[in-house]
Amino acid sequence: MRVLAIETSCDETGVAIHDLGRGLLAHAVFSQVELHAVYGGVVPELASRDHIRRLLPLLRQVMTEADTRPADLDGVAYTAGPGLLGALLVGAAVARSLAWGWGLPAIPVHHMEGHLLAPLLEPDPPPFPFLALLVSGGHTMLVDVQGIGRYTILGESVDDAAGEAFDKTAKLLGLPYPGGPELARLAERGVPGRLRFPRPMTDRPGLDFSFSGLKTAALTALRAVEGSDQERADIARAFEEAVVETLAIKSRRALEQTGLPRLVVAGGVGANRRLRERLAETAAGLGASVHYPRIEFCTDNGAMIALAGALRLAGSGGDVADLAIRARARWPITELVPAGRSAG
Ligand code: KG4
Ligand code: ZN
Repeated sequence: MRVLAIETSCDETGVAIHDLGRGLLAHAVFSQVELHAVYGGVVPELASRDHIRRLLPLLRQVMTEADTRPADLDGVAYTAGPGLLGALLVGAAVARSLAWGWGLPAIPVHHMEGHLLAPLLEPDPPPFPFLALLVSGGHTMLVDVQGIGRYTILGESVDDAAGEAFDKTAKLLGLPYPGGPELARLAERGVPGRLRFPRPMTDRPGLDFSFSGLKTAALTALRAVEGSDQERADIARAFEEAVVETLAIKSRRALEQTGLPRLVVAGGVGANRRLRERLAETAAGLGASVHYPRIEFCTDNGAMIALAGALRLAGSGGDVADLAIRARARWPITELVPAGRSAG
C-alpha cells in the first residue's frame, strides 16, 4: 500500500510517500517562516499563495527520490482539516486532481490524526492502546487512543492552546515569529525558580487545561521590571516551566486514571526539550513508556499525513476521487470513525 500525501494546513508545505510494507520512502517540507516573519505571524492569504508555488516542485522531488511513478501509487492523501481554509484548499485541489487524473482514491486526512500517529513513523512504534498528549499551535488535548479512529478526548484546553500560549508570550517578550522555539531558547538563559507562575487548573480534579492566564502572568511580570535580557529570560523560563509542569501533572493524572501503559507526545510543542525531559520522568515514575516522533515530525510535515492516509486506505479504502474539493477549517477529531467503518 503506497500513498502520496500533501500537507498544507498552515505555514508548511509538506509532501511525502509512505509504503506500508517498506516505510517512509521520501519526504520534503518547505517552511514559510521567512515569508511570515516580517508580519509577526501567519498571513493566511500569503500562506495559500506560497503553497501553490511550492507544491508541484516538491511533488516532483519526492516522486523522484522515492523512485515512484503514478502507477506505483495506491492513493493520494491530503490534509483536509482542521486548519486555514485557503491553505487547505490548495492541498485538497492538487491532491484530488492528481487522484482523479491518475484514477486513484483520494484520502482526506485529519491533521490531528496525522500528528497523533506520527510516532508510528519511528522504528519500534508503540502499539495501541495509548494515551496521547497532543500539543500544537491550535490544539492541546489528552486523548485515549484505542486504535485508528477510536479516540476519546479526556481533556482539552478551555482557552489558548499550549503552542498558541508560547507564541503569544514570545511576542510579549519581543521575540520574533515563530515564538515557541525562540521562547524556549531564551528560557535556557533564565534562572530556574527566580520567578514562579501558577500551574493553572491543577488544584482541582479533571484533565482540562487553561493557558491564557500564563500569558497575563508573563505580562504582569514584564511590567514590573526594566526589561533587561536577563529579566526577560527569567520570565521565559518561568513561563516554560509552568506550561511543562502543568502538561506533566495532567498527563500523569490521565495515565493513572486510565491505566494506559504508554504515553505518546505529538504536535509542535512536543519538540520542546524540557517538556520531553519532564514527561520522560513522569512516565518512568509510573512504569509507563513514552514515545515521540523525531523532532522534524513533531511540527507539521507530509510524512505523518502519508502514514495516516495509508492506514486509512488500508482500513476503509479512501473515497472515490470525484471532482469535489473537500476541506474543513474546523473538524472535531471525535467525528472520526474507526478505520474499516465508513463515516456514513
Ligand atoms: O504542530 P505544529 O507544527 O502546527 C500546528 O498544527 O499548530 O505546532 C506549531 C506550534 C507553534 O505554536 C510553535 O510555537 C510550537 O508548536 N513549538 C514549540 C517548539 N517548537 C514548536 N513550542 C515550544 N517549544 C518548542 N521547541
Ligand atoms: Zn500541526
